[in-house]
Amino acid sequence: MKVTVVGAGAVGATCADNIARKELCEELVLLDIKEGFAEGKAMDMMQTATLLGFDTKISGSTNDYSKTAGSDVVVITSGIPRKPGMTREELIGINAGIVKGVTENILKYSPNAVIVVISNPMDTMTYLALKSSGVDKHKIIGMGGTLDSSRFKFYLSQALQCSPNDVHGLVIGGHGDTTMIPLTRFATLNSFPISNLLDEETLKKVAADTMVGGATLTGLLGTSAWYAPGAAGAAVVESIIRDEKKVMTCCVALDGEYGQKDICLGVPVVLGKNGWEKIIDFNLNDEEKAAFSKSADAVRNMNAVLDTMTV
Ligand code: 2OP
Repeated sequence: MKVTVVGAGAVGATCADNIARKELCEELVLLDIKEGFAEGKAMDMMQTATLLGFDTKISGSTNDYSKTAGSDVVVITSGIPRKPGMTREELIGINAGIVKGVTENILKYSPNAVIVVISNPMDTMTYLALKSSGVDKHKIIGMGGTLDSSRFKFYLSQALQCSPNDVHGLVIGGHGDTTMIPLTRFATLNSFPISNLLDEETLKKVAADTMVGGATLTGLLGTSAWYAPGAAGAAVVESIIRDEKKVMTCCVALDGEYGQKDICLGVPVVLGKNGWEKIIDFNLNDEEKAAFSKSADAVRNMNAVLDTMTV
């Protein structure tokens, strides 16, 4: 198996590091536009191989896409991250052109690759990758909901004072501070409904903290987070490469599911070797349906900005 991670910044490098540690592939290529940067990160990571005990061969490339040829999965992290006070949506002007170009170059050398999009604004970048490439919709997957669900489980575990690994929960909708929807009603602690364990006010706070989870970290770090985004990207890659058929929230093209069409939005999907294989249609209540539709409206408005740009 061969995996490429485009963008050797903090998120891309962390994602690659996780992929190598888990030995998800024999060959891992890190690519960046900055001269020598991906080569340096790849070499640094390779020097951890004997310490961590992995056998994945990692190489770096300065913008030479021929090195990525024959990749089974490609992760796109390219673009600028947000600064404190910025929304993910404000990145569209710069990142749209970058993501479109990267997608084109990747497909030249790996026409059958499954593409995992991390670049922000993630829902719109996933939509752009799909529309500009015209590839099978099952092969274009935005990672956002996997990250948001992980943050949701973290905040729930803090409120419950339990292990995050005992908590199950999903965040659907857009990967934006106001567009994501933590599905509190379905969250469980080892199958026991969390709504029976935490009061309404605490549940609301957990949901609100989750929604601004990325912004909170951007405020603390001065740039956007990388450990959880990188690990979430690697978790998506893992389910694809190992054909695990895990159910994870990912941003995928909807064609009537959840009442939406011509949009990429976060919903629970089964991830396997062909990319996203099936959408799990949760039976949302009226309130959740309304939130999903509002989220779709916001993402659709953001997608419409693409039409005004020459990307
Ligand atoms: C985040 O939420 C980078 O969008 C990413 O941290």
